[in-house]
Amino acid sequence: MSPSSPRRRLRTASVACGIDVLRVSRFHQAVKRGGEAFLRRVFTDSERRYAARHQNGLLRLAARFAAKEAVVKAMSQVDPAHAVMMRQVEIVNDRLGRPTVTLHEWPRKLPRIEVSLSHEDQVVVACAIAFR
Ligand SMILES: CC(C)(COP(=O)(O)OP(=O)(O)OC[C@H]1O[C@@H](n2cnc3c(N)ncnc32)[C@H](O)[C@@H]1OP(=O)(O)O)[C@@H](O)C(=O)NCCC(=O)NCCS
Repeated sequence: MSPSSPRRRLRTASVACGIDVLRVSRFHQAVKRGGEAFLRRVFTDSERRYAARHQNGLLRLAARFAAKEAVVKAMSQVDPAHAVMMRQVEIVNDRLGRPTVTLHEWPRKLPRIEVSLSHEDQVVVACAIAFR
């Protein structure tokens, strides 16, 4: 493998990133279709409690959905052999309101992962950076 080949760069890069953008109406449809089972499959109890505390709870959940997708993308670069499930990724805000990531049931050394999310009316966006 040459030193500059894409495969080698992927293996040796010290950070990996992922991004996701989501229309809230699309997420709403998924919630209507999948109901409680969908919400339980995707979100942890504390994420659902966080959303329930806010008037725009659906928007908050959509933002967390996008954040999980962004983490899945970043982690697929860190460790392509182990797929991350949405419910393994938990987004919890700290006391200043900053989102933090916990990766549950990960079989290897946990990477540090940072996320940032934003929501505006009908669109949410999130990005994640994983540090090896
Ligand atoms: C905090 C702030 C960045 C949020 O930006 P916004 O345009 O109002 O809203 P956005 O939709 O873009 O972002 C909202 C998300 O930002 C994240 N967020 C909130 N506070 C944050 C912080 N201090 N740092 C990083 N991210 C933060 C949260 O994930 C939030 O979504 P959530 O509550 O659903 O988890 C904004 O209120 C701001 O610039 N405040 C001025 C600085 C400030 O007062 N900071 C407070 C900490 S000292």
